Amino acid sequence: MLRKELRYLAPEVALSKRVSLTGDVYSIGVLAYELITGATIDGGPDSPEEADVDVLIDFHRHVTMQILPPRDWVAREGHIGQIEASLPPQQLSDIIMRCLGKEPDTRYSSLESLAYDLSTFVRICRTGGDLSRFKVGEIDDLARFALPVRPIHREQQLEALQVAYKHIVDTDDQTRVVNISGLSGSGKTRIVQYFVSELEAPGTDRPTVVAWAKMHESNQTPLYSFRQIFTSLLDRYLADPTEDVKQWQQTIRDTLGASFQLFLSLLPSEYWRLLGADTEGRNINELDWPKLNASLSK
Ligand SMILES: Nc1ncnc2c1ncn2[C@@H]1O[C@H](COP(=O)(O)OP(=O)(O)OP(=O)(O)O)[C@@H](O)[C@H]1O
Ligand SMILES: [Mg+2]
Repeated sequence: MLRKELRYLAPEVALSKRVSLTGDVYSIGVLAYELITGATIDGGPDSPEEADVDVLIDFHRHVTMQILPPRDWVAREGHIGQIEASLPPQQLSDIIMRCLGKEPDTRYSSLESLAYDLSTFVRICRTGGDLSRFKVGEIDDLARFALPVRPIHREQQLEALQVAYKHIVDTDDQTRVVNISGLSGSGKTRIVQYFVSELEAPGTDRPTVVAWAKMHESNQTPLYSFRQIFTSLLDRYLADPTEDVKQWQQTIRDTLGASFQLFLSLLPSEYWRLLGADTEGRNINELDWPKLNASLSK
């Protein structure tokens, strides 16, 4: 049953079983797609008997596949079932695709805004109006209350961060601590996140990676901010399948030299393994296991 109807479920609904309004928007999109094109959105068979026998493959395909817009589909096929097809208007195709966003945030945020676009579309078609002036999703965008990406009224603070950062880059001064203080909820985290996202944005001539930490006066862990900074960097690099973990482990070891043990002792123990060290700080890549086993079994 689930497999037969799988294609009607939004990806996040199929994965989490959590139902939501934007999940319904997706399902309506699938239905509309099938009505307009006479085909399933994944181009696959519509009965489970003919479908792949592997449920995992079905799920994977469902969640990852790119959907060809209805207009492009009809243009490619030239017919719907047995019937010669005329192209559906671009706007109708766009409305359906806006229902079929992979991420819930990219779909219509409510059935009302979907209904608004559909009825506007129908009205313009009936009265022979100018479809090109109709902007799909415009009302939906206005109806969402979304904060701008840039923090509001924080130009001065962002400028101060920029000055501090430039100072580090322009001079050899590599250890400078910038403390940001303010009332809880005044936007400290938000400012730093925004500033960092700009620095790390792809396409800049100076690729940068930034880690930052929150000070906790009440936290008794030694060098707590240091731990946060390093563990966040280790999470990013040593958990990234495109990075060479062994090479990073060696670089960190070489760079820290005699301080490696101390460094290790400051980190939570789950990171030792990630750094290629056993509980005594030895390099697990270099341990002579047969010899060690032999000595243990003696
Ligand atoms: N200037 C601002 N512009 C836009 N959003 C803001 C601004 N200031 C605060 N916010 C929003 O208010 C909420 C609280 O802000 P934030 O978490 O950055 O506060 P904080 O100073 O880090 O607080 P805490 O000391 O509790 O960590 C966030 O959702 C943030 O996006
Ligand atoms: Mg904060």
